[in-house]
Amino acid sequence: MSYPDDHLTVVDHPLVQHKLTIMRDKNTPTAVFRQVLREISQLLAYEVTRGLPMTTKGIETPMQEMEAPTLAGKKLALISILRAGNGLLDGVLELIPSARVGFVGLYRDEKTLQPVQYYFKVPEGLDDRLVICVDPMLATGNSSVAAIDLLKKAGANHIRFLCLLAAPEGVARMKEAHPDVPIVTAAVDHALNDVGYIVPGLGDAGDRMYGTK
Ligand code: URA
Repeated sequence: MSYPDDHLTVVDHPLVQHKLTIMRDKNTPTAVFRQVLREISQLLAYEVTRGLPMTTKGIETPMQEMEAPTLAGKKLALISILRAGNGLLDGVLELIPSARVGFVGLYRDEKTLQPVQYYFKVPEGLDDRLVICVDPMLATGNSSVAAIDLLKKAGANHIRFLCLLAAPEGVARMKEAHPDVPIVTAAVDHALNDVGYIVPGLGDAGDRMYGTK
């Protein structure tokens, strides 16, 4: 399956960048944040599904018969890293309603600062699917790397990673741990702050999405 870039694709389309600015603005209300996340996730889905295998099928238009392009039906699995991943998942799933869906739950151990798994439920036959793993914020990369470790352990061998914002540190960590997993994002920001938040970023994606805090 072809892919436009080796490891990182930044989607610099004007609509994506416009919507990202709305999401970054701290004065954007929760309902608007959620709606715009849904819209931007669909624009990003367009990019992360680029190069999916195609076939043709015979159809009849009102004018004549034709062999028309259609997806080859390689089975897709969308995997959300809880909880913020669900915001990206919903929009992508609207575009690809037949995709199977899985969830990976990880929390950060206060002492070791390492991700600990608390939930893992994924579709069967991951080895036979294109797996698109979604999480809006690729910050330190610790949870993304851990989630992809788990997916590979469960058999996935063809994974793409979709996020909204990335920090250079997270991109580097992913590239080191999983060079075979291409990343699609709307932007790579300047850095992480000392508590692991992306700056300028958009704050805590889960809190912004669900109005917690
Ligand atoms: N997770 C978030 O929600 N925001 C960040 O900036 C980093 C991690």
